[in-house]
Amino acid sequence: MESFTYDYPVKNYFGEGAVERALEAEMPVMGATVMLAYGGGSVKRTGVYDKLVALLEGAGKQVVDFGGIMPNPTYEKVQEGAALARAEKVDFVLAVGGGSVFDCCKVVSAQAKLDADIAEFERVQGKRPSEFIPLGCVVTLSGTGAEQNDGGVITDEKAHVKGPLFGALPKWAALDPALTLTVPRAQFLSGAFDSLSHCMETYFGAPRERNASDDVNLAVQRNIVRNMRAVAADEGDLHARSELVYDSAMGENGVLKIGKVGDFQCHMIQHQYGAYTHTNHGLGLAVIHPALYRRLAPAAPEQFAHWAVEVWGVDATGKDAPDVALEGVSALAAFTREMGLPATLAELGGDASDDTLRAVADTAVLTPGCAKKLDRDEIFQILAECR
Ligand code: NZQ
Ligand code: ZN
Repeated sequence: MESFTYDYPVKNYFGEGAVERALEAEMPVMGATVMLAYGGGSVKRTGVYDKLVALLEGAGKQVVDFGGIMPNPTYEKVQEGAALARAEKVDFVLAVGGGSVFDCCKVVSAQAKLDADIAEFERVQGKRPSEFIPLGCVVTLSGTGAEQNDGGVITDEKAHVKGPLFGALPKWAALDPALTLTVPRAQFLSGAFDSLSHCMETYFGAPRERNASDDVNLAVQRNIVRNMRAVAADEGDLHARSELVYDSAMGENGVLKIGKVGDFQCHMIQHQYGAYTHTNHGLGLAVIHPALYRRLAPAAPEQFAHWAVEVWGVDATGKDAPDVALEGVSALAAFTREMGLPATLAELGGDASDDTLRAVADTAVLTPGCAKKLDRDEIFQILAECR
């Protein structure tokens, strides 16, 4: 294992009644003015918004409304939220939704306390913000695990860049799996595949020899696969949904990353593809992963073969590791099709012209730690294979 320091300050309220439990415990320390932040309106349709407003106002809080956070949130939206938070002297940001709302709010809460432009501050000056409006997250859609970390994935539409900006680490998260029952099956499975991707990208980092974090990780991957099948068969299966909400948190709460150097090359490609095409994150990962791993597996056959056996149940008897490794990748591809996830960029609905794929390949972050470092031509070829 690599050396590590593990510190995990996000308090998690999980299960039935999690929202009420969280608010009861946290409202006394929230401050008087609470920004209620949400997406395009699902929280209003499901009644979660009214419930939260009633709880907050019942406790004497002044509620500042910040809605309309779009999937793949933009830098403009971050600035809008930060300006509102400053103008209304917001004491606490309560983010309600999925990864997009949480990511936007993490950066809003940092930008509101920072005089400099946060993108310039982080990306040009190489600094990290240190002051934040405290943030809490109510999860209505799982998958990203974004409520567990301080990274916000923000799209700069003008520059065609989708990438991380660091902001507030949530003080707490409320995860009531029943709130996800209104998430359509396809969206929920897209999120669950994102969780699987987080686990895979962590597992396929270094070190490659067997270790405790990977053993836990492979168990979580098996759990995701089993429960995705259960939700695909019955979208009202609350037990399966709750397992996947927990798996989503496990993917990003740092436990699986202990002693590991993860490698998020698939994410780096998908983020840039998303920056050019505004396509769905989890579905994009489902398209890219098999093609990426077909190329990477020969460079780390033992690590891929072990994953093939442990997660996909490939029978390795009498077979060489490189063949077992590729059987695992084929099983992953078959699973994405079984789940009804897209297998090609055409099915994803994104532009797959040479110009777009070349632009994505030329601007995606190249990661060093995976089985082999790819060059830009290889990334272009991987994307072209996904057409
Ligand atoms: O906007 P509303 O109307 O709320 O609808 C949302 C949205 O359209 C809907 N939804 C959420 N909860 C619902 C619901 N619909 C019905 N019932 C509910 N209970 O779901 C749609 C998608 O929401 P979004 O937040 O965009 O999805 P997701 O959670 O997958 O987040 C995706 C974003 O997170 C980033 C992605 O890049 C993408 O921008 N990621 C963030 C990560 C992080 N910070 O750790 C890690 C990930 O790898 C990822 O990159
Ligand atoms: Zn992801």
